[in-house]
Amino acid sequence: MTRDSCESMKLATRAIHVGQQPDESSGATIPPIHLTTTFTQASPGNHKGYEYSRSGNPTRANLEQCLASLEGGTHCAAFASGSAATAAVFATLAPGDKVLAYGDVYGGTFRLLKQVFEGFGVVPVFTEDPSPAGFANLIDAKTKIVWIETPTNPLLRCLDIKKLGRIAHDSGALLAVDNTFATPALQQPIALGADYIIHSTTKYVGGHSDVIGGAVIVRDEALFERIAFLQNSLGGVPGPFDCYLAHRGIKTLALRMERHSQNALTIAKHLQGNAKLERVVYPFLPDHPDHELAKQQMTGGGGIVTIVFKKDDAALEFCAHVKIFACAESLGGVESLVNHPAIMTHASIPQEIREARGITDGLLRLSVGIEDVDDLIADLDQAIDAV
Ligand SMILES: Cc1ncc(COP(=O)(O)O)c(C=O)c1O
Repeated sequence: MTRDSCESMKLATRAIHVGQQPDESSGATIPPIHLTTTFTQASPGNHKGYEYSRSGNPTRANLEQCLASLEGGTHCAAFASGSAATAAVFATLAPGDKVLAYGDVYGGTFRLLKQVFEGFGVVPVFTEDPSPAGFANLIDAKTKIVWIETPTNPLLRCLDIKKLGRIAHDSGALLAVDNTFATPALQQPIALGADYIIHSTTKYVGGHSDVIGGAVIVRDEALFERIAFLQNSLGGVPGPFDCYLAHRGIKTLALRMERHSQNALTIAKHLQGNAKLERVVYPFLPDHPDHELAKQQMTGGGGIVTIVFKKDDAALEFCAHVKIFACAESLGGVESLVNHPAIMTHASIPQEIREARGITDGLLRLSVGIEDVDDLIADLDQAIDAV
């Protein structure tokens, strides 16, 4: 089926069928992986839409079509990583342009803004207040992009996409939403007013911890032309095999996100009240500070649960005792992982800033996989008992 013929269908159907036209030459139901750098032209300039794989490749185009459809956008540009996708969006800016973001953004995004784009004259501005008022207080005519992640990493704050879209647009800025944590299966930022969606497809979209990738999805032709120009000019494109892997992962995205969310909620409820834990953070727990908003803009709480031990040392001991949960960076794969942000993913943030945000040495981020939840709970319980 073509994208047009699938558009009225639900996300789980589009995830399987958009960009999956059978191969015309052989009838292969699964489109072949186009492992080619170049395309033979009948005569100079007379080609079938593809010339060179940095500017376009049919396997990449299939992935892009599918992601654009799932996010409710018109176009998508795929990148070699989430960071390359993020960099392409910032590369649309000129010296003096401001990017307004919540301080608790992904560390690599913070690093790109502070250590790469600030050097080219882009002005990063960070609010420590994730509420719409926190953004409204700092936005001005120079702000060209309001950049948010929701839920955030690792404290899982949820930011109001609809209200932030209005604040950005009233000021002449665009709203960019990094939808890596929620994915289009749980949250649809374009429908809520976002202009750019950014993904690290490395995470839930790929879903199997075996491919690094990224994507930018837009709903506007002119924005897409600029992003596609930068995709080709900067050259951070994914190879065809990586596109195939990401696209194969997408086929089970809806199913996986449902199971990730179910397992994570069950685990969050189970751990709540454990005497060794100070806090269990999960957007779909009623005591989460953004619970009402999370329920409004997400259809599930996602697969990340953050826990904080009363004693800082207990977090490290816990990591040494888990058997199913692997101690590793990244998230969003079918297998469960545990990450110690202060030592691992967030180590580059100065300790005082980290602790002021609540990312203490006793905090752990669980990426809850899709294993049987009883086994996961047994593993967590025995590791907590052992500390
Ligand atoms: C929310 C978020 N955005 C972007 C990125 C960057 O993605 P990548 O590692 O694919 O470059 C990450 C990586 O952890 C992330 O967690």
